[in-house]
Amino acid sequence: MEVFNEIEPLKAFLKDKRTTCSIGLVPTMGALHAGHSSLIQFSKQENQLTVTSIFVNPVQFNNPKDLEKYPRMLEHDINMLCKAGCDVLFVPDTQEMYKQPSTIQFDFGHLDKILEGKFRPGHFSGVAIIVSKFFHIVQPNIAYFGQKDFQQFKVIEKLVNELQFDLLLRPVPIFREADGLAMSSRNLRLNETERKKAIVFYESLLFAKQMLLQGKMISQVKELVKQKCELVEGVRLEYFEMVSSENLLAQDIVTEKSILLIAGFVGEVRLIDNLMMTP
Ligand code: PAJ
Repeated sequence: MEVFNEIEPLKAFLKDKRTTCSIGLVPTMGALHAGHSSLIQFSKQENQLTVTSIFVNPVQFNNPKDLEKYPRMLEHDINMLCKAGCDVLFVPDTQEMYKQPSTIQFDFGHLDKILEGKFRPGHFSGVAIIVSKFFHIVQPNIAYFGQKDFQQFKVIEKLVNELQFDLLLRPVPIFREADGLAMSSRNLRLNETERKKAIVFYESLLFAKQMLLQGKMISQVKELVKQKCELVEGVRLEYFEMVSSENLLAQDIVTEKSILLIAGFVGEVRLIDNLMMTP
């Protein structure tokens, strides 16, 4: 695997490759797990060259503690990338990505004000800034993003459409642990007891889906989910919503586009998950 810390040598390397290879890009913040590897597998199926970036992007963290505590484990990550068959790793430092402090801000209308956006102001603007930079540097044919961060995918979709980035976006299904917990780098911060409790969010999604399919009203289901989470000590629900997967607007009745989204804390660790209403 070729490793680059700087933009210019990476660009020069890719310039040559571009003439014969299709390039897949998998942007990450490291602390890699099987969910990230599945993105790499998708890229390898469709491209001759897969580039993974690892960069803990300060401008997308609205909580300084979260940034400080974000797991960093480059040696482990390099091992995982080699095993996954990644061709190129781009791992810049903050100075390389932000030669001067970022002053621009993205506004995605309602898309970045609701759900995650409401609880993490500025987060999606920060994501859009760094993802735009990676798109400019790598110029991938296809870029891969997980559906675990469903709202992030929608924001990036809007970014690509409005700014006419010349690339395809591929959503990759959520990769889960054996008990159903969505894999996340943040899971590493859970102690043993918290890890067991964390499953409540996925269980709530399954339970809610079942209730809704049985014809219960969304308002009733929201109340039941709230109660289910409140029963677990140390768990704090931030939101549970049913929205359209097309535009993320709240829905009262189930359609074939409905998706359930949940977010909350287990101890100090914030987790998110989601589930489509139709398989
Ligand atoms: P990170 O949280 O490291 O995630 C990198 C990519 O892996 C994202 O597209 C995310 O949706 C995907 N991913 C994470 N867990 C997954 C799982 N269990 N199943 C499937 N895909 C999963 O998301 C980010 O980093 C950053 O915001 C980034 C896009 C890199 C910009 O900084």
